Amino acid sequence: MNVYDATRMADLLGREGYAETANEEDADLVILNTCHIREKAAEKIYSELGKLALTKRERDAQGREMKIVVAGCVAQAEGEEVLKRQRAVDLVVGPQSYHRLPDLLRQAKDGRRLTDTEFAVEDKFHALPDPSRAQIRARGVSAFVTVQEGCDKFCSFCVVPYTRGAEVSRPVADIVAETRRLIDAGVREITLIGQNVNAYRGADDKGREWGLARLLSHLADMDGVERLRYTTSHPVDMAQDLIDAHESIGKLMPYVHLPVQSGSDRILKAMNRRHTGADYLDIITRLRKARPDVAMSSDFIVGFPGETDADFEETMALVRKVGFASSFSFKYSPRPGTPGAERDDQIDEEAKRERLAALQALLEEQRQAFNAATVGREIDVLFEKPGRHEGQIAGKSPYMQAVHVEGDPEMIGSVARVAIVAAGSNSLAGRLLGEEAKA
Ligand code: 5AD
Ligand code: SF4
Repeated sequence: MNVYDATRMADLLGREGYAETANEEDADLVILNTCHIREKAAEKIYSELGKLALTKRERDAQGREMKIVVAGCVAQAEGEEVLKRQRAVDLVVGPQSYHRLPDLLRQAKDGRRLTDTEFAVEDKFHALPDPSRAQIRARGVSAFVTVQEGCDKFCSFCVVPYTRGAEVSRPVADIVAETRRLIDAGVREITLIGQNVNAYRGADDKGREWGLARLLSHLADMDGVERLRYTTSHPVDMAQDLIDAHESIGKLMPYVHLPVQSGSDRILKAMNRRHTGADYLDIITRLRKARPDVAMSSDFIVGFPGETDADFEETMALVRKVGFASSFSFKYSPRPGTPGAERDDQIDEEAKRERLAALQALLEEQRQAFNAATVGREIDVLFEKPGRHEGQIAGKSPYMQAVHVEGDPEMIGSVARVAIVAAGSNSLAGRLLGEEAKA
């Protein structure tokens, strides 16, 4: 979602005369779009700001102004603290108020420093300008569309409900209009995003509520949409109609990112996840019934307070039962203001490190096995960009694997049938089968 927000900020500031640069020394304005989910991510901001402060001073000496903005969830969580900790910061703006950036930047001058972390009353999305065709094209053939923001789940380790606020769904018509614009400019794959995307409950024009399955089915009927995905889901909101959508909607890709966090019911309960390991396995069984080739992906946390070796073994056992195509795994990081951080049975660093290493070794083995199993198969690939070598083009399989083939760059933006001939550690090599495949 930070990627999506950053593109919206860039579009907004493009209207104010700003253009993107890859080089921060050239920048009149630097925005750090930050993440507060784990301590390491949050702390990185301050070392980055330290470096930027030096650059800013050098530019000042040359009589060239540089403004520094901290946006995103660290901004939301720490607010004015950011200004106190780093004098070089001009503006702190939360994820629900970045549409006010032009105005805030005008106010933040002559040494005036500002913080805006309001959960805005006006609709952020309506206040943002539509990107031009050129801006959309420059970002490629696969695009995100935010359909839902915020979270009401309050998992006991997580800051998201505090930084992103309560669950809010965008109206159906707005999502359709944004999708239309993307497709008309050449986008072929839409990934619907939200902190809790499958809790989507958006209103249609008649004020009726649509769930995610209905929204996906509607978008699948739009000409030009080749592929649909959604992320990130919560097991509790994995409704049967959404599972069924994986059978009935051909354009919906067979890849589901469904974080489980732990395989131990005791820990799941302590995490306030509101489901058991068995519930999770049951969802996967139903998903595989609807779409036998569905690839599963998950997030895991090791070393949540109170986690024993036996609890951790249950996580390992669950992983062995599922067989994940890919995943993200983390050491528990106590976050200020969350119930988990208050507990006095924190796990020591050494145990966390060992558990994470064991889990990641198993998950990596499964990822490699999944990739190896695609060798010899014929699959559809959406080509996204030129490959690393001359004469190559690169794209994605339905299962989110990177695939490269020898091919004409003209094919970028189209889906074609590919025979997978080899699996490398991070991508698959394939051979074009010539015929254009339609979803
Ligand atoms: N410590 C470690 N990992 C966390 N996540 C969320 N909060 C924490 C935390 N305090 C992980 C979860 C979530 C992913 C986005 O980040 O696995 O699904
Ligand atoms: Fe955080 Fe996801 Fe739990 Fe919401 S559902 S509190 S975003 S981990």
